[in-house]
Amino acid sequence: MDHFLYKNGVLHAEDVPVADIAAAVGTPFYVYSTATLLRHFRLFDEALDGMDHLVCYAMKAASNQAILKTLGDAGAGMDVVSGGEYRRARAAGIPGDRIVFSGVGKTADEIRTALAGGIRQFNVESEPEMEVLSAVALSMGKVAPITIRVNPDVDAKTHAKIATGKSENKFGIPIARARAVYAHAASLAGLEVIGIDVHIGSQLTDLAPFEAAYQKVADLTEQLRADGHNIRRLDLGGGLGIPYERTNAAPPLPTDYGAMVKRTLGHLNCEIEIEPGRLIAGNAGLMVSKVIYVKSGEGRDFLILDGAMNDLIRPAMYDAYHDIIPVIEPAPGTEQQPYDIVGPVCESGDTFAKQRMMPPLAADDLVAFRSAGAYGAVMSSEYNSRPLIPEVLVKGDQFAVIRRRPSYEEMINRDTIPEWV
Ligand code: LLP
Repeated sequence: MDHFLYKNGVLHAEDVPVADIAAAVGTPFYVYSTATLLRHFRLFDEALDGMDHLVCYAMKAASNQAILKTLGDAGAGMDVVSGGEYRRARAAGIPGDRIVFSGVGKTADEIRTALAGGIRQFNVESEPEMEVLSAVALSMGKVAPITIRVNPDVDAKTHAKIATGKSENKFGIPIARARAVYAHAASLAGLEVIGIDVHIGSQLTDLAPFEAAYQKVADLTEQLRADGHNIRRLDLGGGLGIPYERTNAAPPLPTDYGAMVKRTLGHLNCEIEIEPGRLIAGNAGLMVSKVIYVKSGEGRDFLILDGAMNDLIRPAMYDAYHDIIPVIEPAPGTEQQPYDIVGPVCESGDTFAKQRMMPPLAADDLVAFRSAGAYGAVMSSEYNSRPLIPEVLVKGDQFAVIRRRPSYEEMINRDTIPEWV
C-alpha cells in the first residue's frame, strides 16, 4: 500500500497534487511519501515484535538524508556499504551504534572512519578483510564487533544481477568453510565475533529461499556455539520483493516474513537484524516526467519523455517493469493505446516500456513511474550531460525539495582543463 492516489482526478502524493510539485520544481523529479516510508518500516518492525531486533534500512536503496532522518527518528538503524554511506547516515543523525557496515570491499580508510565514528558491527565478507579490520582496530586501540557473512549457496530465484547467495557470487564466505573462518576470526585480537550475517539477493518474491538460508544459519549457530563462539546476533539481510506490477500476485508481506523468521530462528534467542531496502523505499517513491513529443513511427507511437535512463536505470539494466500512469486521471472508459515509452538519451536502451497500453497522451502531459523510490535516484547519473534530477519529500499537505536540481554551471564547472591541454 502506498500514498499515491488519484483525488479529484489528479494524482496526489499524500495530500499534495503531483502537478503542483511539477509546477514548482520542474520535471523530471523524484517524490517520496513520508507516510509510506514509515508504514513500510513499521510493518517490518512490528513483524519482529517479541524478538529483540533492529531494522537496519539498506540505505543504498534511497539515501537522501531527509529519508534517513525520517526512518531514523522512527527507530531504524542503517545498513551502509561505503564510507560515503556511513558519513551520510551520521550526517542525518543516525547514531553509530545503529549502523551496520556491509560490503565485500571495505577499505582500511572506510574501516577507520567507522571505528572512529562508532559502529554497531562490521559484516565481514572475507579472511583478508578480517586481517585488515583487526589490524586497523588494534592500531586505534579498539576491538571491532563483527559478524561474518556466510554464503549459503541458495538460489534466490531472482534476476541474475541481484542474486547474491549462490556459491558463484562474490559475496560472503562459503558456509562449508564457516567453522574454520570463525576460528581464524576468534584468533585475531582486534575482532570480537558476535554473530552471523547472510543476504541472498534482492526482489525475492517467495519465502522459500529465505527459509532455506535461515535454516542453514540456525544449524551453523548451533555448531559455532558448540565450537565456543558466543553467537548472539543474526543479521538476516534484506531482499523481500515488492509488487511492481499490480496485476501480479503480490509477494509475501513483512508479517509473513517475520513469522517465518520466528519459526526458523526464534529458538536460538539471538538478537535479529534485518536490512530491507526496496520494501521500505520502493513503493514510497515516484519519478515524475513530462511528455516532450509524441512521435509516430513505423507501426508504433513513441512517447518521448524528459526523463531518461540516466534518471531511472532499472528498465535498461534489469529489464525492470515500472507502472507508468498519467498524472491526470483518465475519464472512465477512456480507450487505451499502445506506446513505446522512451527517454531522450542517444541509445536504444533508453526505453522504459514497449507497447505499453496507456490513455492517449500529448506533449506536456505528466506521467508518473510508480515503485521508483528504491534504486531510482541513487542509481542516476549525468549521462548525456543531463543534470541529476531533484528529490522532493511530501508529508501530509507539505512538500520540500530535499535535493535540488543543480544548475548547468555547477555540473559543467566540476571539470578542469589543465593548462597543457
Ligand atoms: N543487504 C545487503 C547486504 C544488500 O546487498 C542489499 C541489496 C540489501 C541488504 C537490500 O536489499 P533489498 O531489501 O533492497 O532487496 N539495484 C538493484 C538492487 C540491488 C540490491 C543490492 N543489494 C535493483 O534496482 O533492483
